[in-house]
Amino acid sequence: MPRIAYVNGRYVDHGEAVVHVEDRGYQFADGVYEVVHLFRNRLIDLEPHLDRLGRSLDELDMAWPIHRSALHVAMREIIRRNRFATGLVYIQVTRGVAPRDHKFPKDVRSSLVMTVRAIPEFLDDMRENGVAVITLEDIRWARRDIKSVSLLPNVLGKQAAAAADVYEAWMYDGEGMVTEGTSSNAWIISGDGVLITRAADHDILQGITRQAILQLAQEMNISFEERSFSVEEAYNAREAFMSNSSHFVTPVTRIDDRVIANGIPGSLSAALHSRYVEFMSEFPKIS
Ligand SMILES: Cc1ncc(COP(=O)(O)O)c(C=O)c1O
Repeated sequence: MPRIAYVNGRYVDHGEAVVHVEDRGYQFADGVYEVVHLFRNRLIDLEPHLDRLGRSLDELDMAWPIHRSALHVAMREIIRRNRFATGLVYIQVTRGVAPRDHKFPKDVRSSLVMTVRAIPEFLDDMRENGVAVITLEDIRWARRDIKSVSLLPNVLGKQAAAAADVYEAWMYDGEGMVTEGTSSNAWIISGDGVLITRAADHDILQGITRQAILQLAQEMNISFEERSFSVEEAYNAREAFMSNSSHFVTPVTRIDDRVIANGIPGSLSAALHSRYVEFMSEFPKIS
């Protein structure tokens, strides 16, 4: 089956999907993106993702490439053309194509590119055994709340994790407090059962999954705190997990060389994961 991409209003064969060499995303990383999970034909939390896209665009004084309602239509169309039920929809908006000059170009239309790819519904091994993470210094800019395509430090972090044969890297700030993972938010559960994740300010991306988990935790009467925690506190946590749109709640059972609790995914992480899966099934199927 051919894989189809969307490039500025055209649906093209994935292998031939290209942007101009002077696209500002390519030259300056002057762009933002979103990744929306398509789960069993349901777009999970689409509106919060598009709200966040709008916020990222506003923060960078960048225009919507097409109207939000037209984006809905284009997303459905690209999903329809690729014909699978579970995957990731990648949306990227850049400031557009212009002669290379740092200043914002005038009268240039922003570019919109979308791709979709199939992913497995669940990664059983990760869920059953948890994953290991390393920690490293967060060397990114001071506006990590903007979902910018400028991901080089995240790339280096994920590569360091791969070189250490672990799944993810958790980054820490100048005070040794965990910010987030290279492509996920970081969570721990304290010895007395409190769910803890860093407050969503400029230091982390406000994960859409993070938002949903906090909402579900509230409904489940799980006490939680949005506050910073140190690497040391994470080492001694009762449970740890990471969250993002592609892997929901993924238990973390080792951080650096420290095994978390007894090294087995914890019950609260498992309960949150199950509830999140139910939550996903509550979204309407796309036609
Ligand atoms: C740096 C970073 N933090 C957090 C997240 C989690 O965000 P979401 O739950 O919206 O996928 C991501 C997602 O890719 C990310 O790249």
